[in-house]
Amino acid sequence: MSKKVFDRFNKNIGVGRVKESRFPFYLFWIILVTLLVTAGVNVAIILLMQNTKVPAIIQTHLLVFYWLFVAIALTVYVRYAIKKNYDEPLQEISDVTKEVAKGNFDIRIEPIHTEEKNIDYLDVMISDLNKMIEELGSIETLKQDFISNISHELKTPMAVIKNYAEMMQSPGADDEQLREYAGVIKEAAVRMTELISNILRLNRFEHQKIVPNFTEVDISRNLCDSILQFESSWDRKNIDLDVDVEDKAIIRSDGASLTLVWNNLISNAIKFSPEGGRITISQSSDKNSVTVSVRDNGCGMSEETVRHIFDKFYQGDTSHATEGNGLGLALVKRILVLVGGTIEVKSKEYSGSEFIVTLPK
Ligand SMILES: Nc1ncnc2c1ncn2[C@@H]1O[C@H](COP(=O)(O)OP(=O)(O)OP(=O)(O)O)[C@@H](O)[C@H]1O
Ligand SMILES: [Mg+2]
Repeated sequence: MSKKVFDRFNKNIGVGRVKESRFPFYLFWIILVTLLVTAGVNVAIILLMQNTKVPAIIQTHLLVFYWLFVAIALTVYVRYAIKKNYDEPLQEISDVTKEVAKGNFDIRIEPIHTEEKNIDYLDVMISDLNKMIEELGSIETLKQDFISNISHELKTPMAVIKNYAEMMQSPGADDEQLREYAGVIKEAAVRMTELISNILRLNRFEHQKIVPNFTEVDISRNLCDSILQFESSWDRKNIDLDVDVEDKAIIRSDGASLTLVWNNLISNAIKFSPEGGRITISQSSDKNSVTVSVRDNGCGMSEETVRHIFDKFYQGDTSHATEGNGLGLALVKRILVLVGGTIEVKSKEYSGSEFIVTLPK
């Protein structure tokens, strides 16, 4: 089926589009006309035979043959209609399902009717199956992308470790050089550990439906603890940090998971800020929610980047020159889904970004 026909078919077949079972006038007229015609022919044969004085035995046989013919014709027609409308589509559904079971997700089932007025329950079933195959295909692609992304992200630190270990083995390296090489190897190992912990965290949060650790959390305190962890990083970059939080903001949530949210947002703000930049972290509450905003005056993001930042392994800088693996915001998003919060992004290229998290009270 061409993509265009498939899309139009799916559009026509929205939920509730199947005509409710009602009196089928179309079928009624066909049956009525067929009965009238066959009965009319029957009467015509009788009248014709009376006029031509055909012997009674032949008259009877002729009528029997006539009705035999009508019965055969109707049987053939009904069989054809059933085959066309049910047997063939069901056979195709069965063939396609076998193909999908073998791992072919590019296959689609041909619709029986493509016009809205003719759509029936079998069409809805075909449309649903096609959607299911499409979904399965995209899940498979995601899985493959995920594995190839992990392999790619692991390859870089592995290559660094291998090269520097070889350099350490080469003769002539003095103590200072050896210490320097060991330092690079340690850094690569730390990056690998971070990547693996993030993958494990993401995996855990993705398979979790409910966050079990709902306790009373003071968001102001939680946020300040996270900010303090980054003291050396903002100091190193001479960043001017402006913090404006309430004394207390208690909500029921998962404190440990929220710490991961603040850590990711603050580390991004520092990472994407220039030397001597400015970061503003503010927190406020109203009757129903607590809001946290992390704003920087860093490089900002293009519209295209904003569209993808929550995708796993996505990094705006496609050369992946900046640190990290593009998993931070995917994790943030997943955690916020679990704790019932939301995140909003305001960003302009070259003039900074703001991430606003809202948590229900
Ligand atoms: N404050 C920000 N300013 C500019 N760009 C940002 C900011 N925060 C995120 N981004 C963009 O979004 C991308 C994804 O962010 P994310 O936190 O998911 O990954 P990362 O920081 O690159 O790596 P990781 O979080 O795994 O260490 C970043 O690579 C960057 O392009
Ligand atoms: Mg990050």
